[in-house]
Amino acid sequence: MMTDFRQAAAALLAEHVEGLSEAEILALMETPPERNMGDYAFPCFRLAKSMRKAPNLIAAELAEKLSGGALFPRIEAKAAYVNFFLSQECLMQEVLAAVLREGEAFGRSELGKGKKVIVEYSSPNIAKPFHIGHIRTTLIGNALYKIYDHLGYETIRINHLGDYGTQFGKMIVAYRLWGCEEDVKREPIKTLLGYYTKFHEEAEEHPELEDQARAAFTALEHGAEEETALWNWFREESLKEFRRVYDILRIDFDSYAGESFYSDKMQRVLDELSAKGLLEESQGAQIVDLSEYKMPPALITKSDGSTLYITRDIAAAIYRKEHYDFDKCIYVVGTQQNLHFQQWIKILELLGYGWAQDCVHVGFGMVALEEGTMSTRHGRVVFLEDVLNRAVEKTREVILEKGVNTDNVDVTCRQVGIGAVIFNELSNSRLKDYVFSWDKVLNFDGETGPYVQYTHARAGSVLRNAGDAAGRALAAERWDCSYLRDDSAVELGWLLYRFPAVIVEAAEKYEPSLLARHVVDLAQSFNRFYHNEHILVENEAEKEAKLALTAAAKQAIRNGLTLLGMEVPERM
Ligand code: ARG
Repeated sequence: MMTDFRQAAAALLAEHVEGLSEAEILALMETPPERNMGDYAFPCFRLAKSMRKAPNLIAAELAEKLSGGALFPRIEAKAAYVNFFLSQECLMQEVLAAVLREGEAFGRSELGKGKKVIVEYSSPNIAKPFHIGHIRTTLIGNALYKIYDHLGYETIRINHLGDYGTQFGKMIVAYRLWGCEEDVKREPIKTLLGYYTKFHEEAEEHPELEDQARAAFTALEHGAEEETALWNWFREESLKEFRRVYDILRIDFDSYAGESFYSDKMQRVLDELSAKGLLEESQGAQIVDLSEYKMPPALITKSDGSTLYITRDIAAAIYRKEHYDFDKCIYVVGTQQNLHFQQWIKILELLGYGWAQDCVHVGFGMVALEEGTMSTRHGRVVFLEDVLNRAVEKTREVILEKGVNTDNVDVTCRQVGIGAVIFNELSNSRLKDYVFSWDKVLNFDGETGPYVQYTHARAGSVLRNAGDAAGRALAAERWDCSYLRDDSAVELGWLLYRFPAVIVEAAEKYEPSLLARHVVDLAQSFNRFYHNEHILVENEAEKEAKLALTAAAKQAIRNGLTLLGMEVPERM
């Protein structure tokens, strides 16, 4: 753990100030608008009363008294503010020691100790394409899981598969009419999707198909053998495809309890709703009226008695609370479902579940491809797996053209190609819509995954070229930081110092992009340092200090990318 410099400044003030506690002082501390005005600033207005003096005078006296310490050699008054200038050498010393000592654990904390967080993400629908639209929930969810884990929380990753609902009645009927086992086995999702589409076409002329589908779903809900076996098979075959994508992305789950898992937990929801007097009949269906809360009614059961998406989500939340006793349950689902989640949380509240406030819907905007928005309905589906494979192939072209330095081209192409897609996704703030563009994703010079990975590899190559000196730099406990005075070095020092706090902020705001942006800042700052300064100089002390900073930048970039779910090649 590094010294909290802001707190150190507050502690210093607390010794000389009357009428304010250290905690109050800390809360008043500000960051000056410009670096040349100091690193921390304390406004003296609140002291005027207790110290019976004008704020400007108090500031001047405090600056006079406090100046000259090791941590803050320079403390100056400016109007009513006391400005603290942190010793750059202390900053560097602290940061280098922390990063190099903690290594992979740099940025870890115990913040979440004893607390349990569920992260629900990805959740594609079986027998439906796992398409580019799912990229956001999948990658944001995975990054949030890693970030919370790094902060010491106990985490549970849930894939709430869309594996239930009346559409499976249609699928069963379609398969019985036109299905071919071999085709499904070879290409499950595309084949099943074909049956589904055909069902809709045929049903326009033969409406009795719809009745058959309803009957098949009811049979499934009652556990009929044949229907259940078919549905299970569709689910297994779909999962095989999904798992291929998860393997490429190196993503895993602790539970695949999807919608079907709650089918036997629905009656309880209905009972609780009616016990609270919340259920109303409406044209044979059962609804919860939410007009009082300015929302349309929530449809709980259809007129044929079958339950709906929201009913299953209510059951899922109750089950998760009782089974896991979470402190927080995060749902990474697109903002198109805002209304669904608003209705759902309101119903949990109305049921008297105080923990509803620990459930968080983490929304995100849409992703469009350059050619236009993708849509299942118009048959222009873009499969996520195809995008990932294409990223690897395109990376191969770039790498062969650039002549990148690697022992294993296949592995590097995978690490860089997939990393590029992941970084592109996570560097966009989640609520904004964005357009997926290959030029942006794979640009080695932009603020991209390849750029950051390349910077990391560059730092690695500097360390390798340094030979024994690198080992000495890493093993040292102190470095002569008077050699790290270039603006680029100081800036890098501050970015490293802030790294742990950025991880916390990314968790609090459910925003991995904050971390991604910070990693870009680190990379840019290291590249400035690399260009401005000669690292492998004659002078041993100077060389070791510069190598230590290089190693620290490399480590922090690595930790950041790992938290985002990326691989970090040593060479490229
Ligand atoms: N399967 C749904 C879809 O693809 C997402 C499920 C989101 N999670 C939830 N608990 N409702 O739209």
